[in-house]
Amino acid sequence: MVKPDGVQRGLVGEIIGRFEKRGYKLVGLKMCAPGQQHLEQHYEDLKEKSFFPGLIKYMNSGPVVGMVWEGLDAVKTGRSILGATNPLQSAPGTIRGDFALAVGRNVCHGSDTVENAQKEINLWFGKEGVTKWAHHSDAWVH
Ligand code: TYD
Repeated sequence: MVKPDGVQRGLVGEIIGRFEKRGYKLVGLKMCAPGQQHLEQHYEDLKEKSFFPGLIKYMNSGPVVGMVWEGLDAVKTGRSILGATNPLQSAPGTIRGDFALAVGRNVCHGSDTVENAQKEINLWFGKEGVTKWAHHSDAWVH
């Protein structure tokens, strides 16, 4: 997901491009302003953390762009494309390492496990689900 700061800074295309060029297949895409309740559900596991209220306020400060990417090891490699949670520790060449400085404005979100990815796809895309289609990289990646 491109967080509100990423949308406001015009980084949507850049972030989509990094996943596309790596070879991942875009099967879901959605801009929305989901509201506080939805965001609290998304970050439910963090509700006891001291940064939770600030995180929800930031996430609710503008629209976000949700994406679903498909391909080999998409969750693990997706997280490495994003970089470390704290951009000060993100390697150059990662999205956060190239475009962010503060943990509270770290531009993008990525699911951390396949199980959570499934939960988040259900939460954000619901009945719309994802789109099945043939991608040119299916041939060269496999
Ligand atoms: P987390 O799920 O730990 O990281 P990630 O986004 O890499 O999966 O935390 C969720 C978000 O919470 C994180 O992207 C930014 C915010 N956050 C803070 O604002 N302060 C913090 O100290 C941490 C750990 C996270």
